[in-house]
Amino acid sequence: MENEKSFAQIMDDLVSDCEYVLGKYLPDPQNMPEGEQYTSTIAEAMRYSVMAGGKRLRPLLIGRICQMYGGRRELAEPFMAAIEMIHTYSLVHDDLPAMDDDDYRRGRKTTHIVFGEGMAVLAGDALLNYAYETAAAAFSAAKTPEETARVVRALAILMRNAGIFGMIGGQCADLEAENNQEQVTGETLEYIHSHKTACLIDSGFVIGAVLAGAPEEDIQRLHRIAHDTGVAFQIQDDILDVTGDSAELGKPVGSDEEEGKVTYVTLYGLEKASADVLALSERALEEFDSLSAGDGFLRQLILKLVSRRK
Ligand code: IPE
Ligand code: IPE
Ligand code: MG
Ligand code: MG
Ligand code: MG
Repeated sequence: MENEKSFAQIMDDLVSDCEYVLGKYLPDPQNMPEGEQYTSTIAEAMRYSVMAGGKRLRPLLIGRICQMYGGRRELAEPFMAAIEMIHTYSLVHDDLPAMDDDDYRRGRKTTHIVFGEGMAVLAGDALLNYAYETAAAAFSAAKTPEETARVVRALAILMRNAGIFGMIGGQCADLEAENNQEQVTGETLEYIHSHKTACLIDSGFVIGAVLAGAPEEDIQRLHRIAHDTGVAFQIQDDILDVTGDSAELGKPVGSDEEEGKVTYVTLYGLEKASADVLALSERALEEFDSLSAGDGFLRQLILKLVSRRK
């Protein structure tokens, strides 16, 4: 049946599915646990930032790749919700005045503009912690010791990729590189891109495969695919900060220049940046084609990210 659907239709279905999963797991400000009404503002800010739209790239990868290896959906769902909570928390904090100082995200005012800076810090913290509470729900879905072991491994990947040796490490180097353009080399930027962006994308590519018990060789390939796709994704993000349309992107353009960021574009120019997005994506596709399982939609997705406008 899916064969007859267009890429865009499948994408719409997957995005709706991710949103259904997120809606199910996020705390409901209208229906807080007894005695917890004092924290409903945070629950509101969590929903405001998460349910604002967004491409849902990371959760859809987890769900789709788990399915590609014949894994069980019940194991993947908590991780789908968790990765999008972590990703959204990273955006809420990234937009704070102390970081990139941006007022728009996903087509609406950023969380700190609507709820204030203190609440935005707390909403980000709450999303990060709730992500782990949510992912841990996969333990109750595990039916065998082997499945439990897979959940342990997936959780370790989720945590590592979000932490000091993952996304936070990249954000730290990104902040330190600000207004320090002369000292930033290609090597520094590779560290920044592969950590601040490719690490969470790595969780997208690898966790579904781990939960489904995919062959070890495929898991190693998926790490490499995630690195190349993730770095290409951030280079394209840097390009769109210069050439994009803020209405289409749902976030401001020119933010990098305003903050004195070193980006792939400032370092290498637009032409090489676009060429490298293509080269990295082609390398990722080659690796994707040598996996022991396949999925035409995912193949197309990797290719389409090259020319994305949002
Ligand atoms: C934005 O990520 C931050 C980067 C890593 C460039 P996305 O471009 O995936 O943002 P959403 O989720 O679609 O809003
Ligand atoms: C941020 O990179 C990556 C994160 C970990 C949030 P950017 O700062 O370039 O992301 P945007 O452009 O604000 O989405
Ligand atoms: Mg940033
Ligand atoms: Mg930013
Ligand atoms: Mg950016």
